[in-house]
Amino acid sequence: MRTVDLIHRKRDGEELAPEEIQYLIEGYVRGEIPDYQMTAFLMAVFFSGMTDREVSRLTECMIASGEVVDLSAISGIKVDKHSTGGVGDKTSLIVAPLAASADVIVPMMSGRSLGHTGGTLDKLESIPGLRTNLTVDEFQVQLKELGLCFVGQSDQVALADGKLYALRDVTATIESIPLIASSIMSKKLAEGVDAMVLDVKVGNGAFMKRQIDARRLAQMMVGIGRRMDKRVQALITDMSQPLGYAVGNALEVMEASQTLQNAGPADLTRLCIELAARMIHLAKKAPSLEDARRTAEQNLVDGSAYRKFKQVIEAQGGNAQALDKFELLPNATGMREILSPRAGYVSVIDAEDIGTASSMIGAGRQRKEDTIDPAVGVILEVKVGEKVDAGSVLCRLYYTKEDQVEEAAEMVEDAFRISAQRPEERELILEVVG
Ligand code: URA
Repeated sequence: MRTVDLIHRKRDGEELAPEEIQYLIEGYVRGEIPDYQMTAFLMAVFFSGMTDREVSRLTECMIASGEVVDLSAISGIKVDKHSTGGVGDKTSLIVAPLAASADVIVPMMSGRSLGHTGGTLDKLESIPGLRTNLTVDEFQVQLKELGLCFVGQSDQVALADGKLYALRDVTATIESIPLIASSIMSKKLAEGVDAMVLDVKVGNGAFMKRQIDARRLAQMMVGIGRRMDKRVQALITDMSQPLGYAVGNALEVMEASQTLQNAGPADLTRLCIELAARMIHLAKKAPSLEDARRTAEQNLVDGSAYRKFKQVIEAQGGNAQALDKFELLPNATGMREILSPRAGYVSVIDAEDIGTASSMIGAGRQRKEDTIDPAVGVILEVKVGEKVDAGSVLCRLYYTKEDQVEEAAEMVEDAFRISAQRPEERELILEVVG
C-alpha cells in the first residue's frame, strides 16, 4: 500500500477498505507516515466525508492505538455521559450524581476547557483539595464503593486521537463530522463503558452551528456505538445562549451545587433530569423512561443526589463544605456590571461571545498549556425572552486581573441584543437520536 494512493482515492470520494484505514492510523502513530501526508488525508476526509463503515474502522483503530480500560471487575452496567462542548455547560457535575444516586455505575472521564468552551475537570478542580488524577486502582475502588468517580482522560487512551487532534487543530480540519465522531467515540469506548448518553450541542456556542450537522454527528456517533455493541443515545440540545446563568469554573460549581439542592435554573435542571433519566434507563435501573425521569426528579428533590456529590468530592480529597459555603471557593476580586442600553426584550445572548470573553479573562485556555483562573467568569442576570428596562443589569463580569477586562466587557456587551419584540421561544431539547 502507498499512502499517496490512499490520499488520492479519498480525495476523489472513494471508500477506503478497513485494512487501508488501519495502515494509515498505525503508520501515523509509528511515525512512518509524516504529518504532511496525514494532513492531506485529513483534508481529503474534510471535503469527501467518510462512510459509516470507514468511520467505524477509524474509531476501532484509534481505540487500538492506546490503552483500553477494563472495568469488567465492577459489576453493573457502566454508563458515561459526554457533551460535545458548550458555554455554561456544568451538566456533568449534576447528571453524574443524579444517575449514581439511582445505582448507576458512572465512570465519569472528562476533559479540560479549550477555546470558548468549558471543561468538567477545570470546574471540579476549583473545589479546594480535589484530585482528578486518580490511579487506575483508586478509580476502580471508588467506583465500586460510591458508583461514581470523576477522572481525567489518560493521555495513553486512544493515542492516535491525541496526535491527530493536535494536527487537526493547526490544519483547519477540526470541523469534520467523521473526524469529530471518531475522536469522541474512540476516547469514550476505550474507557470501558457499556452505554453512553451524548449531549450534542447546536448553536453559536457549539462546534455544530446548524441542526442538520448536529443530527449527522449524533447519528454517526450512535451508529459507531451500535456497531460495537454499546447502547448509545444522543440528545441534540440548544447552545445558542449559555446554559443556566453561570459561566466560569468556581461560578459553575456554585450553580451546580444549587441545582443539586433543587434551587437551580429551570433550563439547566430540565436538561440534567433528562440526561440522567436516559442514563438510568440505559443502565436498566428503571422499567421505562418515564419511571427513570421520576427517579431522577425524586433524587434531586430528596437530596440524595446532592449527598452523593458531596461524598464523591470528599472521597477525591475535595472540601465538600465549599459546596455550601461558597466563600471557601476561589473568589474574584473585581466585578463589572453590564447594563442594558435600552428597554425591550433580550432576543440574543451569543454563547460564543460570552465563552470567549470569560476565557479571555482567565476562565479558559487559548492553548493547552495555559493555566486557568478558577474564580473568574460571567453571571447572567437575564435569559433570552426576558423583558428589561434601560440601565438594568444584563450580567456581571467577575475578574481578578485588570488586563483584558475592557476588551472582555465590550465583547460581553456585544453578546446581547435587545429588541422591541419578544423573541420566539427556542426549545432546549431539540431531538433525540438512537
Ligand atoms: N471533542 C473531541 O474530543 N474531538 C473532536 O474532534 C472535537 C471535540
